[in-house]
Amino acid sequence: MDAGKLVRPQVATLKAYTPGTTVSQAKKKYGLERFVKLSSNENPLGTSPLALAAIRTMDDLQIYVDDDHHELRRRLAEPYGFGVDHVLVGHGSNDVVRTLFTAFLTAGDEVVMADPTFSLFPKDTVLFDAVPVRVPLRDGVHDLAAMLAAVTPKTKLVVVVDPNNPTSTRVERDAFDRFARALPENVILVIDQAYREYMPDGSVEGTEYVRSRPATFVLRTHSKLYGLASLRFGYALGDPELIGYAQRVRLPFNVSRPAAVAALAALDDHDFVRRSLAANEAGKAYLSPAFERLGLHAYPTAANFVAVQVPGSATEAYEAMLQRGVVTRSGDALGMPGRLRITIGTAEQNALVVEALGSLAAAVA
Ligand SMILES: Cc1ncc(COP(=O)(O)O)c(C=O)c1O
Repeated sequence: MDAGKLVRPQVATLKAYTPGTTVSQAKKKYGLERFVKLSSNENPLGTSPLALAAIRTMDDLQIYVDDDHHELRRRLAEPYGFGVDHVLVGHGSNDVVRTLFTAFLTAGDEVVMADPTFSLFPKDTVLFDAVPVRVPLRDGVHDLAAMLAAVTPKTKLVVVVDPNNPTSTRVERDAFDRFARALPENVILVIDQAYREYMPDGSVEGTEYVRSRPATFVLRTHSKLYGLASLRFGYALGDPELIGYAQRVRLPFNVSRPAAVAALAALDDHDFVRRSLAANEAGKAYLSPAFERLGLHAYPTAANFVAVQVPGSATEAYEAMLQRGVVTRSGDALGMPGRLRITIGTAEQNALVVEALGSLAAAVA
């Protein structure tokens, strides 16, 4: 058998997703007992207790989930004055992207996006035989003017990840507003706001654009703030007619009942949300001056992670941090050479980060 002849040519060019190093991998590699995992932007306070309590009461998993998820979708839509038909659910927001691209991308379509940005977007574009048009960031931020200039009659979709992964930066609200208004009405605008809850006041609120320009989808997830990364739940908010097309290709039962039950319960966990956001703000307030003291530039973060410059190569720094018990993400793997992407952790974890970066800087000096 020649597997290379069987596979679709688009798939042959792709690489499997490489997740951040797991704690057990790190333990095995370095034989250290304790590691802090700050590589996947998970919630350092854990999982929403209300979500955990809700799943613990479940016992009839032999029954297929009610695939309509009516109450969950109603609750997700409500804060924005939307209805159930504005909401498309998924097995994490990654799955929502796959559903949207399945519904709307045709071979040869161009998809304009930043470079670097969340790796799923270029990859899924190629999967559908469409063409990623990658526009370099400017000073770590989406260059919206250049992205607009990259739009051609072939452009089907434009992706703005706000805050951006891996840089943690956000776009400025007025600039985004001008950009969204100038975008042709038949170009789909995808605003990935996986970290929306962490953003400062005055940031872009993607849902406003669902109202003002119907060809807009906003992506959100329960993986970050609500601490449900492992259960997998994400969703899109968008125009009901377009969401209706996406519903035609969504895999049936793509959100499990435990995920749906936990996602709904988490929405009421105001205490966990408040504590999580407070911990993140405290982490930012601690890390930012510490990086400055060490002479390491970090982009101003609008999310729950930082993109900090390191002495030497990112991969060497990543390894050196691992040896010191801190699992981060090397910017080399994310299109961000010279920087590490580090999740903002608890006070204790953040102190460990600063200590490890400090000894790294001292070793190089
Ligand atoms: C920008 C961005 N979008 C989407 C996701 C994926 O979220 P989910 O776990 O909901 O698939 C991530 C996860 O890191 C992300 O950083």
